[in-house]
Amino acid sequence: MTSQLFSPFPLSGLTLPNRIVVSPMCQYSAEDGSATDWHLMHLGSLALGSPGLLLLEATAVEAIGRITPGCLGLYSDANEAALERVLRALRRWTPTHFGIQLAHAGRKASSHAPWDTGMLIPADAGGWRPVAPSAVPQSGDEPPPEALDAAGLARIREAFVASTRRAQRLGFDALELHSAHGYLLHEFLSPIANRRTDAYGGTLENRMRFPLEVFDAVRAAWPSTKPLGVRVSATDWVEGGWDPEQTVVLAHALKDRGCDWIDTSSGGVSSQQKIPLGPGYQVHLARLIRKETGIATMAVGLITDPQQAEAIVAGGDADLVALARGMLWDPHWVWHAAAQLGGTVAAPVQYWRSPPKAAGRVFGDTSIGMR
Ligand SMILES: Cc1cc2nc3c(=O)[nH]c(=O)nc-3n(C[C@H](O)[C@H](O)[C@H](O)COP(=O)(O)O)c2cc1C
Repeated sequence: MTSQLFSPFPLSGLTLPNRIVVSPMCQYSAEDGSATDWHLMHLGSLALGSPGLLLLEATAVEAIGRITPGCLGLYSDANEAALERVLRALRRWTPTHFGIQLAHAGRKASSHAPWDTGMLIPADAGGWRPVAPSAVPQSGDEPPPEALDAAGLARIREAFVASTRRAQRLGFDALELHSAHGYLLHEFLSPIANRRTDAYGGTLENRMRFPLEVFDAVRAAWPSTKPLGVRVSATDWVEGGWDPEQTVVLAHALKDRGCDWIDTSSGGVSSQQKIPLGPGYQVHLARLIRKETGIATMAVGLITDPQQAEAIVAGGDADLVALARGMLWDPHWVWHAAAQLGGTVAAPVQYWRSPPKAAGRVFGDTSIGMR
């Protein structure tokens, strides 16, 4: 039987060669928001592994929207030039499709890198005051973030648009908005972080207002032929928080506005969350959204085994699977999955001699001449 995981998938005007996506992964290795040689090495290693789509890490649309001082940004000419250098090298040597995840960290900004405690950096120690829908801190012992006023909302909406224009100039193939994991857009959705009493808080319609305004503004600035997706936390895993039913309403609204996929993650807004971690623990959420709305979904979270990934796509749980940690562990995961499932991948000519005999024609019709 032919592998569904290794069948092409059309996303708007882009056709992915397979259903496997490298999930966005912060590297905390940028300087003033600008990509460094680390990004060249890291993305180069992943791009050589033939994923259908490689999504770059959460990339801040303004400096105070970075999670950490080392986070990637796309808010300045210097940021754009640094990414241009990285992308030029990647494109010279790989045919991989690249997408970028645009983000604003909201109240989780101004943090140390995870390997350096991950705690809030106080403003008097090189940090800054984060902004959020409401002056409610992520954790009770932290000072409250600044609640955004109308001017702040307009500034951030415009920052998303400006970064979208930069992404378009850089020739990205796809764009994903980060509306998950307790960052700004998710903070607006979740009643846990959003305690506003104006048109941006309270009812579901009001809580969705700002994320949808950002989506509309970005959709208008991003070419209609290029895919635009949204990563959501489909549940807060907290009683009284954001939940799958509300996510379905949001997914309907996004689909109506021209969203091309929902990347289905969860959690991140509250330390009270109880996440039932286990293989494919978020797949049922992708399935629910796909079934209820008909939008393409990306499943993510502890998908590590090729047969498991094949079953998710073939069984109609999701159209795409995204892997994060599994890709860091094995940047050639896609090749190994293809060998197991009878798929083929376009591998770099320089590596054509690599497959062991048992892998068969995993690279298709390649012939090596030597004398
Ligand atoms: C090192 C690392 C960095 C991450 N950074 C991001 C990020 O920038 N944006 C995002 O939406 N998720 C981020 N995540 C979450 C992953 O994209 C993914 O959803 C999560 O790790 C579950 O998938 P996995 O089990 O395949 O690792 C990160 C995960 C890791 C391990």
